[in-house]
Amino acid sequence: MRRLVIVGGGRMGRSLASGLLRSGWIRPSDLAVAERYGETRRELEEHFPEVEVVEAPVPAASAVLAVKPADAPEACAALSRLGIARVMSIVAGVRIATLEEHLGPSTVVLRAMPNLPAVIGAGASGLAGTASASEDDFAWAEGVLSAFGVVARMPEHLLDAVTGLSGSGPAYVLTLVEAMVDAGVGEGLDREVSRLLTVHTLLGTARMLTELGDPAIELRARVTSPGGTTAAGMRELERHGFRSAVIEAVAAAANRARELGTSAH
Ligand SMILES: NC(=O)c1ccc[n+]([C@@H]2O[C@H](COP(=O)([O-])OP(=O)(O)OC[C@H]3O[C@@H](n4cnc5c(N)ncnc54)[C@H](OP(=O)(O)O)[C@@H]3O)[C@@H](O)[C@H]2O)c1
Repeated sequence: MRRLVIVGGGRMGRSLASGLLRSGWIRPSDLAVAERYGETRRELEEHFPEVEVVEAPVPAASAVLAVKPADAPEACAALSRLGIARVMSIVAGVRIATLEEHLGPSTVVLRAMPNLPAVIGAGASGLAGTASASEDDFAWAEGVLSAFGVVARMPEHLLDAVTGLSGSGPAYVLTLVEAMVDAGVGEGLDREVSRLLTVHTLLGTARMLTELGDPAIELRARVTSPGGTTAAGMRELERHGFRSAVIEAVAAAANRARELGTSAH
């Protein structure tokens, strides 16, 4: 039997397959990708010549569900008919209880919330599972998700917080980038130069945080000398409520995730 079937060959399903094959986590002959749309199937066959690409899910030890939320019930029903023992869903907003309803009681269900940079293997995912999920099931899910980047385990209710923080986070950071690029242009820099300097400021700062492991507040103190230029800039950020705007944005997105999760599906 195959080790894994990925249901949904869209952006996320495809990125997952690429990451798992590239890292050697799985051999092409152990993987199948189910995609109901013929045109996308042909693209997948071209991209993954040694992987079986099918229209409907096929038997496998485990499955990853990577379809749009509205398609999740139907895809779960197909997996349930095949008796697949372990399913991890990356479908946004669909609760474990809902997945269990469609999968049946004998399936172990895990649920993850990745984010956009997962498509280049630089994502951040939250992971939750049912009480019946064993250490082995979690280790398997973490192995799969490592193709997407870093992963943190938590109780399911906190996945809404993950949605607000790292799920929507790329949009907040991209807004900061746009504003900084415009500001650089406003100060007389070429747009391309401003973009280069902004993006590498972000990248360099993120690398310092991950590679040095120092708290953000300490790194910030290092570039903020008394009465200096950064202190003048920081005072404006505080005056405009920058920090509070970020806190409220994360809270609003997490609340919206809670609302969608209780009303839909
Ligand atoms: N993109 C992100 O950053 C991100 C982050 C976190 C979570 N997610 C979640 O991940 C899931 C996948 O996202 P995506 O961006 O990859 O979506 P997508 O590009 O729309 O991919 C979903 C694919 O699954 C196919 N499909 C649907 N039902 C199927 C079935 N029963 N059997 C086989 N294939 C089926 C769809 O085919 P059709 O085209 O025919 O519908 C589509 O090609 C979504 O639920 C999304 O909410 C995405």
